[in-house]
Amino acid sequence: MGASYQEGAERFYDLFGEKDDVEFYVDQAMKYGGKALELGVGTARLAIQLARAGVEAWGIDTSQHMLDAAEKNIAEEDPETQERLHMVLGNAVDFRLPEKFSMICFPSCSFDHILDPMDQRAALLNIKKHLAPEGYYVFDLYLVKELKADKEWFVQRKELEDGAKVIRSGYHVTKPEQRLMSLDMWYDHVVDGRVAKRFYEGSDVYVHDVEGVRALLDETGYMIVEEYGDHHGNPYEEGDGLIVFVTRPKKQ
Ligand SMILES: C[S@@+](CC[C@H](N)C(=O)[O-])C[C@H]1O[C@@H](n2cnc3c(N)ncnc32)[C@H](O)[C@@H]1O
Repeated sequence: MGASYQEGAERFYDLFGEKDDVEFYVDQAMKYGGKALELGVGTARLAIQLARAGVEAWGIDTSQHMLDAAEKNIAEEDPETQERLHMVLGNAVDFRLPEKFSMICFPSCSFDHILDPMDQRAALLNIKKHLAPEGYYVFDLYLVKELKADKEWFVQRKELEDGAKVIRSGYHVTKPEQRLMSLDMWYDHVVDGRVAKRFYEGSDVYVHDVEGVRALLDETGYMIVEEYGDHHGNPYEEGDGLIVFVTRPKKQ
């Protein structure tokens, strides 16, 4: 299993997923002009911002639940913004679109949902096929300082505007031999002191390391244009917990 993102997850995903990457990806898309494609588009949190900025934005996702949430969010936008958005069910590994894009992005570290190194290669080759000449592939990844066998619980809590709260508890297990981290999460929607609904969400991620990704990019025909350590333009430094790659196909 890679990511499930089944029923319920889409309801609370953005609540716990505060990100400061919107300006970065909008700037990237504006810089390259043309159409943008977001892989793992989720609830269209970012794609909507691209479209609001005037970019024709396409989104691909493996989860129909996330796409349904995206369509709901898109329906609240003005008609011009809606017209610039196109959501498609598909997998980064083997999707086919009759379009070429100036920027393809895989934000929120979601490339790590592709678990099998052969599929990671296939995805990079497939992405390349969908890039316009002079197109860029931009993505980010979490990094861990030391990959070791580990098990850990965590709990987070968010208050909703109506006074209810959502408690997210989770358990993750790291298996260093396979570079995999499995995550189980439960969302408890608590209304008047009682659990009104509980959603489960499970996913596995592949824990990349910088050298491995650089090699994978090189092998699949990409050159690295920039490596940032955050979404604010600071260069990546060894030991950073995040890396943002700006890449493009190598010149033939
Ligand atoms: C962490 S969420 C990110 C959502 C959105 N990009 C954002 O930044 O708010 C990851 C999304 O990637 C999708 N996903 C996972 N594996 C995928 C794959 N191989 N191809 C396309 N989408 C995938 C999941 O269904 C989920 O919606």
